[in-house]
Amino acid sequence: MAQQTNDRMDRLVSLCKRRGFIFQSSEVYGGINSCYDYGPMGVELKKNIKELWWKSLVYERDDIEGVDASILMHPRVWEASGHVEGFTDPLVDCKKCKMRFRADQIDTGKNCPNCGGELTEPRMFNLMFKTYMGPVEDAANIVYLRPETAQGIYVNFHNIREASRQKLPFGIAQIGKAFRNEITPGNFIFRMREFEQMEMQYFVKPGSDEQWFEFWKEERLKWYERLGIRKENLEFHQHSEKELAHYAKAAFDIQYKFPFGWQEIEGIHNRTDFDLGRHQEYSKKNLQYFDQEANERYIPYVIETSTGVDRLMLTTLADAYDEDQAAGETRVVLRFDPRIAPMKAAIFPLVKKDGMPEIAHNIVNGLRKQFRVFYDEAGAVGRRYRRQDEIGTPYCFTVDSQTLQDGSVTVRNRDSMAQERISQDKIMDYLVERVV
Ligand code: GAP
Repeated sequence: MAQQTNDRMDRLVSLCKRRGFIFQSSEVYGGINSCYDYGPMGVELKKNIKELWWKSLVYERDDIEGVDASILMHPRVWEASGHVEGFTDPLVDCKKCKMRFRADQIDTGKNCPNCGGELTEPRMFNLMFKTYMGPVEDAANIVYLRPETAQGIYVNFHNIREASRQKLPFGIAQIGKAFRNEITPGNFIFRMREFEQMEMQYFVKPGSDEQWFEFWKEERLKWYERLGIRKENLEFHQHSEKELAHYAKAAFDIQYKFPFGWQEIEGIHNRTDFDLGRHQEYSKKNLQYFDQEANERYIPYVIETSTGVDRLMLTTLADAYDEDQAAGETRVVLRFDPRIAPMKAAIFPLVKKDGMPEIAHNIVNGLRKQFRVFYDEAGAVGRRYRRQDEIGTPYCFTVDSQTLQDGSVTVRNRDSMAQERISQDKIMDYLVERVV
């Protein structure tokens, strides 16, 4: 069983490279551990996931605003947030083979799981990447690459509230890069050192936090259905007292059933007034909110929803990956929800003559103003379908001899492989109804 799941993961990783979703970073130099580049199909998938998240929070609600804060922030931010002191993992080394492990992931009472050698005592290792601002490399110039995007939201809370004239409860959403010097990155793009987060901080009146926590838990789980993830592959995991981050009063993870087991894809946290309270203390600026209705001042509580774009890429790829039998051979197909499919449609002339390529090009030119579409005239139509199945294109339109007579084309559905005829004038409407 374990072998089967590993094989499945290997086949997915190989498809990702072959079809231009994901490449090892700096591959020509032998690669760099846990860093990946997104190819032509990968960037489209990533963009579509981010757009769906942004749309559902910022466009479809009137109580959430967007922000794009800088990655480098004042170093005091990370002292206030508790990351300088507490964003650590316990690290042990094997004295023999020099492999490194997270002490909380192995039995440190035993010897090295790799070679049986003796292990060092655990020591705490801070996960933040450090660099220097300006030419002088001294302690006064240390800056950190942000390990979460959330702090850029907290320090902008009052700027955004004033500029947008929002009243509590309201939220701020952000998509951006985060960096963690993970001890054990791995499982392809599951745990990386450079990754992208999509975080939303919802500011509420203290006392209403538990109700909003429940609200966002349910909302976020529902969102995964929009992403096209199968329900049976999702579950909540409640954090025990021991698992809770230093800032959280309560936390639930949404977990996905990856080929390598159930793992977190999103965290929903009740961060109380911890972050704004600490920024008020460290910055000595008043960060209270004046509640006009109640005529009182307080530090808002925060309900956070936090997920990783790369981790959702892996989730959508793993959930969509399928193999079935078609025409006596194994068909590899990515059954993406059409809304996140990187390529929305492919257009084929059946043959390279009789004006069919010209008609197909005209169709492509009309569609490409709105959608990422692909023109393909190379090889047998069956092979062209297979190539599109592998990247998850939901619809293929073929121009054939009947098109020359009545202007209709065939539409072939990726999942059912069923074909129907529609008028070529209706292709745009057909796609708008199904892929937007
Ligand atoms: N601001 C809260 C926060 O960062 P987290 O549970 O540490 O909470 C939230 O991270 C999400 O960010 C995770 O659920 C995951 O999707 C993503 N994430 C965290 N570390 C990651 C890593 N090393 N590689 C890829 N994604 C990561």
